Amino acid sequence: MTRFQIRQSGPLSGRLTLPGDKSVSHRSVIIGSIANGTTRIRGILKGEDVKRTIQAFRDCGVSIESQGEWLVVKGVGLDGLKAPTSEIYLGNSGTSMRLLTGLFSAQNFETVFTGDESLSRRPMERLIKPLRTMGANISLAEGGTPPVRIHPIDEIKAIEWALTVASAQVRSAILLAGLFAKGQTRVIEPKPIRNHTSIMLAQFGCNVHRSGLEVTIEGRPNLQGQQVEIPADFSSAAFFIVAGLLVPGSELVLQKIGVNETRTGLLSALELMGASIQLENFELVGKEPVADIRVQSDSQLNGIELPAALVPLMIDEIPILAIAAARSKGRTVISGCEELRVKESDRIRTVVKGLNALGVEVEERPDGMIIEGGVFHSGQVDSFGDHRIAMAFSIAGTVAEGDVEILNCDCVNTSFPEFTDVALQCGMELVVEGEQIDE
Ligand code: S3P
Repeated sequence: MTRFQIRQSGPLSGRLTLPGDKSVSHRSVIIGSIANGTTRIRGILKGEDVKRTIQAFRDCGVSIESQGEWLVVKGVGLDGLKAPTSEIYLGNSGTSMRLLTGLFSAQNFETVFTGDESLSRRPMERLIKPLRTMGANISLAEGGTPPVRIHPIDEIKAIEWALTVASAQVRSAILLAGLFAKGQTRVIEPKPIRNHTSIMLAQFGCNVHRSGLEVTIEGRPNLQGQQVEIPADFSSAAFFIVAGLLVPGSELVLQKIGVNETRTGLLSALELMGASIQLENFELVGKEPVADIRVQSDSQLNGIELPAALVPLMIDEIPILAIAAARSKGRTVISGCEELRVKESDRIRTVVKGLNALGVEVEERPDGMIIEGGVFHSGQVDSFGDHRIAMAFSIAGTVAEGDVEILNCDCVNTSFPEFTDVALQCGMELVVEGEQIDE
């Protein structure tokens, strides 16, 4: 089990290059695998979660190989996947589990998806309900969690479905199943959520129509292999955005970061707190907008009431927002975040525990927390095997008044294997201890 030891550090500086977006990486492999012809992907995230998705498609007969800086996927077409010869293990990856359950529920062979302890606790009913309505035959473990056993069916049916949870994973699962159905599948979201699946489906030639909170796709598309460039992951940049703001005297430029507006709620929240963050050099990478993000530490942040509409646009960034809030003036109220209870860890509980361990005054609420701004003291924080908790509290350590130790840090490899390299590169004082466990 690796541990991070972090000291107050800084100033932080440099132009940082960050790894590829996790959500876009998954989708490029998934859609490339069922397209006709070759898809070449550059900048794919080499994290554990994406490796699980790649292996799942290899298990179903898709050739996926690295060639220099490219990942080359030889698509087998909509009806070309082969039955896997054994259960498919998806590790810690909720995105693989949800998106692949959608896609595989439309196949005429059986598939079983399993996951690690954390993934085996995460809810699946929310997507099984619409998929069953489409005609899928799926069984779950008692409690509505993985393992997911998908039985073969002859035909899946298109549907119109209104999501009750603002979940991009659920919407993507329905759309990926809908690809195999005749006619139009429409999903209505309660609030805007990340839209990478529909953007990439359109790039591959699917007929996609967006209107307000609705997205409609035409089933049985003729998907054609593409050249895909993956933008750098905003969710990974988030740790360094907050580090740059909090560590006195810092200036960081995070290069070519994906700034799709369904992902950048953290920027709006930090601006409400008084931060001034510049976006420069906008361009499109493939169909996704990217920009350089420049942060300087000259602003005193103030506590806020986080607007509910921002929550789905920064769902993975609430832990690092909590770190910013704990160093702000006054109180920050985070609510409407009950989804955090069913992420890789119960992120309301694990953030509150971590803040307590560093001496921050925080009140846990069923759907969020109230944080009193102040200082971080020395302490030991358990990540509970959750990558975003490990990285968020590493940033707390860089501005703490004493040494901070983070336990259970192997999980960082799921989304950001280069985290410690980038942290050291910009001047964080972080030491990795203990042994990495390879599965
Ligand atoms: C993701 C969607 C989000 C996010 C996850 C990745 C995706 O989950 O938390 O890390 O790639 O679609 P929900 O849509 O379930 O909130």
